[in-house]
Amino acid sequence: MATTRLGDIAPNFTAHSTEGEINFHNWLGESWGILFSHPADFTPVCTTELGTVAKYKDEFEKRNVKVIALSVDGLESHKEWISDINETQDTTVNFPIIADEDRKVSELYDMIHPNADSKLTVRSVFVVGPDKQIKLSITYPASTGRNFDELLRVIDSLQLTAYHSVATPANWINGEDVVIAPSISTDEARKIFTKGLDEIKPYLRMTPQPNLN
Ligand code: BEZ
Repeated sequence: MATTRLGDIAPNFTAHSTEGEINFHNWLGESWGILFSHPADFTPVCTTELGTVAKYKDEFEKRNVKVIALSVDGLESHKEWISDINETQDTTVNFPIIADEDRKVSELYDMIHPNADSKLTVRSVFVVGPDKQIKLSITYPASTGRNFDELLRVIDSLQLTAYHSVATPANWINGEDVVIAPSISTDEARKIFTKGLDEIKPYLRMTPQPNLN
């Protein structure tokens, strides 16, 4: 197992997928990426998750994010299951699904948690930046389907804070005021954040989201 902590380079791999053989780093190119595992094909929660991801294609594209799924099922299984996802979720799966039968990628990314299930991947999510660094990792149990609106929200925050000296407060959604990074003095902040700032406490300064007109 490689280390997959925040700031680590996402381990590279080559794997078979429903869209052919993929070298992860080459496939990502200059994009942001989401690598997410699900426990098994032909299961109800996973079916709704992959259908939802397919429907969010435009939202991912807007944010320059490529998405790739993974389970330890084989390619034939993935392909048959895709027909079911398309039929039942009224969509067309438009991203690759890795067939990790030898568990190479699952082990590299610590996606099998033996005390939860010795054979199947949990619901892991890794967001990778264009610099290939891991920016976010979240793990959900098999019984809880993911909230992909939350993933979009986090990506908005990651993309904003990558370029501006701000952080996003609790429950922030794109368009709302943000927090000025503690590393910036209030004098400096007054020069940088030309839309103004509200100094609630010396350490708690709010400003309108800087990348909006
Ligand atoms: C599901 O996707 O529905 C599921 C998969 C494994 C365990 C429980 C639920």
